[in-house]
Amino acid sequence: MPVTRKDAALSERLLAHYDRHRRTLPWRALPGEAANPYAVWLSEVMLQQTTVAAVAPRFARFLERWPTLEALAAADEADVMAEWAGFGYYSRARNLIACAREVTERHGGVLPCEEAALRKLPGIGDYTAAAIAAIAFGRRAVVVDANVERVVSRLFAIDEPLPGAKKAIRAATDLITPDARAGDFAQGLMDLGSSICTVRAPQCLICPLRQDCAAHAGGNPERYPVKAAKKAKPERRGTVYWIERDGKVALVTRPPKGMLGGMRALPDDGWRAGADGNGVPPVEAEWRIARGVVRHGFTHFTIILDLALCCDAPADMLEADWWPVTELADAGLPTLFAKAARAFGEMRDDAA
Ligand code: ADE
Repeated sequence: MPVTRKDAALSERLLAHYDRHRRTLPWRALPGEAANPYAVWLSEVMLQQTTVAAVAPRFARFLERWPTLEALAAADEADVMAEWAGFGYYSRARNLIACAREVTERHGGVLPCEEAALRKLPGIGDYTAAAIAAIAFGRRAVVVDANVERVVSRLFAIDEPLPGAKKAIRAATDLITPDARAGDFAQGLMDLGSSICTVRAPQCLICPLRQDCAAHAGGNPERYPVKAAKKAKPERRGTVYWIERDGKVALVTRPPKGMLGGMRALPDDGWRAGADGNGVPPVEAEWRIARGVVRHGFTHFTIILDLALCCDAPADMLEADWWPVTELADAGLPTLFAKAARAFGEMRDDAA
């Protein structure tokens, strides 16, 4: 029978299934073990917009380098940003440091356990606050990520399209969240969403919530969550510059606010989400322009960059960090600029 009210049997079925089939993940406490709030917070921030498979090795490396919140608060920001290189959504890394420092200064180095206090910290929104409160501190909280959204929209056959349906999905999740073990319940829903209640071809036959599910009863679970038609992503144009002298290439540190803020990068002509680049090079030089371009998709737009190269930069050139070309892999360039650097490498090989 589809769920229309608080039903303790549903959460018991899900928790029993979780106890038997839970995934072993590096940030999860084993049954009977106390959770490590720092590890839970770090994992939840890393898991924002990112898959479990991509997070696992990053999480292990990060935790090895900065094993405690205290260590992270004392970290050099450039080291943390470089560690984050290629992982995307760089504001997460900036906010991690800001949050660790704020917790050190204002909360005695201990993450608060209340959702409301967590939400006031940098980089912690509604989802992350609820996840930390429930998973790290055993508080009752309503935790809704994309997997939970799918499971719950199916359980209740919510016909309203996303993103408008988020409020209804949250209310429905609230209805089924138990007072005890809310963290296990949330992670049980996440595991169900990733293994059984999948986007395509959900395995309803082995689902512990089959009897509770309105979409299963209706015979078309894949219809949920209903999504509004997607708008086409806008395209932006710009130019990226390779400026080399004596085996070293000019890198800049991007301004702290804005796209890829605080990251090391190749110089460009000022493109951003809202505007094309101005086409003005950072210095006057003889530029060689590549035939191809570099494309990179961000969440809200695609950037297409022309490549301009100068291998004998004037000696009085702009303020830059001159980085040995052979050590560029250690510069911590975000993916877009790492792609551009590879394309410049091919241009240089062609010229040689
Ligand atoms: N996605 C976000 N948080 C998660 C968690 N704690 N376990 C599995 N998947 C997740």
